[in-house]
Amino acid sequence: MKHILKLHVNGEDFEIFTEMNKTLLEVLREDLGFTGTKRGCDLGACGACTVLIDGKPYLSCLTLAIAVQGKKIVTIEGLAREGKLHPLQKAFIEKGAIQCGFCTPGMILTAKAFLDEHPYPSEEETKRAISGNICRCTGYVKIVEAILSVNENQ
Ligand code: FES
Ligand code: FES
Repeated sequence: MKHILKLHVNGEDFEIFTEMNKTLLEVLREDLGFTGTKRGCDLGACGACTVLIDGKPYLSCLTLAIAVQGKKIVTIEGLAREGKLHPLQKAFIEKGAIQCGFCTPGMILTAKAFLDEHPYPSEEETKRAISGNICRCTGYVKIVEAILSVNENQ
């Protein structure tokens, strides 16, 4: 059965006529077209579907869309500002931290929430912070370098 769902995504309000048992991942990708949020395992194990909800990282494949009405949701599409990439997006490109790119949106959003709370993290803290985000390509070294580089000159 379909109902109106009201979501606030990337600074905009949306009203969507859709099934109420959909996950946030399904609504973001299928109803709103934010396909930067990736479906990996669909089981809560890979982190590819990570989005920010009120600034904290959540697995959108395990989150019912109806449960996050009224909260601020940010997907990878919402990170750039006025056509300029977020410093983390730039760092991932400059450090070569992207290969196939499938893990990248979730990895960057996890890293953003982490850096917001720990602006000058150690390498160990950074590795722990991204331990729930699986990357099958890079070996993580360049990802950690990219995250650590964001605030290193400030
Ligand atoms: S798709 Fe959500 S954790 Fe893998
Ligand atoms: S770059 Fe391919 S999964 Fe991470």
